[in-house]
Amino acid sequence: MENKVLVIDMEESSCQQIRNVLMTRGYSVSIAQTAKIGLMTQESLRCSLIFLDFHMNDLDLRSIVRELKRLNENIAIILMGHSDQQNLVAEALNLNISDYLYKPLRPEEIYFKTKHALEEKKTVFSSSRVMQGVEEKNISLQKQNLLLARRIEESTKNLSKLYEDLRETYMRTIKALAHAIDARDHYTSSHSDNVTHYAELIARQMNVEMTYLEDIKDACQLHDLGKIGVHDNLLGKPSSLTIEEFEEVKQHAVKGAQILEPLRYLDHVIDIVKHHHERWDGAGYPDKLKGEDIPLGARIMTVADSYDAMISARPYRKVGMIQRDAIDEIVKNSGTQFDPKVVEAFLKVVPQF
Ligand SMILES: [Fe+2]
Repeated sequence: MENKVLVIDMEESSCQQIRNVLMTRGYSVSIAQTAKIGLMTQESLRCSLIFLDFHMNDLDLRSIVRELKRLNENIAIILMGHSDQQNLVAEALNLNISDYLYKPLRPEEIYFKTKHALEEKKTVFSSSRVMQGVEEKNISLQKQNLLLARRIEESTKNLSKLYEDLRETYMRTIKALAHAIDARDHYTSSHSDNVTHYAELIARQMNVEMTYLEDIKDACQLHDLGKIGVHDNLLGKPSSLTIEEFEEVKQHAVKGAQILEPLRYLDHVIDIVKHHHERWDGAGYPDKLKGEDIPLGARIMTVADSYDAMISARPYRKVGMIQRDAIDEIVKNSGTQFDPKVVEAFLKVVPQF
């Protein structure tokens, strides 16, 4: 196909001249002396280059060019005309024709223009092949990207499910441990559950945000986890603790936080656990935090914790306080041991305890 040339010209001499010049250089040249025969020939032979005369009797130039381009959009055409046909160049440009030649034709010009037109066509063809290749690659890359994105999405889902499962399992283990600590001391066997229940009601009353409410509940379950490091004799001691013994018991707040420390996602929970014995007036432990410097969860928990401790039996007190007295005690310590706002919320929900 690359070396097939078609000449459409009514002038026999021009046709023969082009044929003679090109055939000796290895081109295959067909001739058509009417436009219609030229179009039919092109339809069957699909030549790469057309020499087309500016004036054909049977069809106007525009129609011929339109038909030739319909058969092959990128066909190379060289328009031929006599020098007195002054609008030849303008027409060639208008019709987007590759080149033009004035008659009488000169052999070297025929050959040069043929070679140039076909090389140009080849370049355009390879560029479009490259572009097509690039486009195909793009489409294939887009498909691969989509596939990859789906796989990543699936893996992320699986990973986050795995992470949630792991977190859940870890929490269950820690909570089981906390319950085991409760169980060590038969006086406080349901203490963590009670504290969680009271703290939740107070926190809801205070319109605490849902995520933080969950943190408070987790912290309540785990708040005495550090007692794992406190000697049994001290936890069950029926008499008052010595100063040294009390100092050891006080360590449970920090120890609990230390046990949970590797679990970064429990940051808020750890904070609440660590500070659940701080006092509103700054006289608590371990850091003597004061007022709103104490995490809200810890301020809520300390009320719930103290209330449950008061109404429960203890090694040093066989029967717990009656509810009324415990409530009075909480109120009495509002603004010193406890956050007044937490006490206010506590008083509203205590009938539901
Ligand atoms: Fe505690």
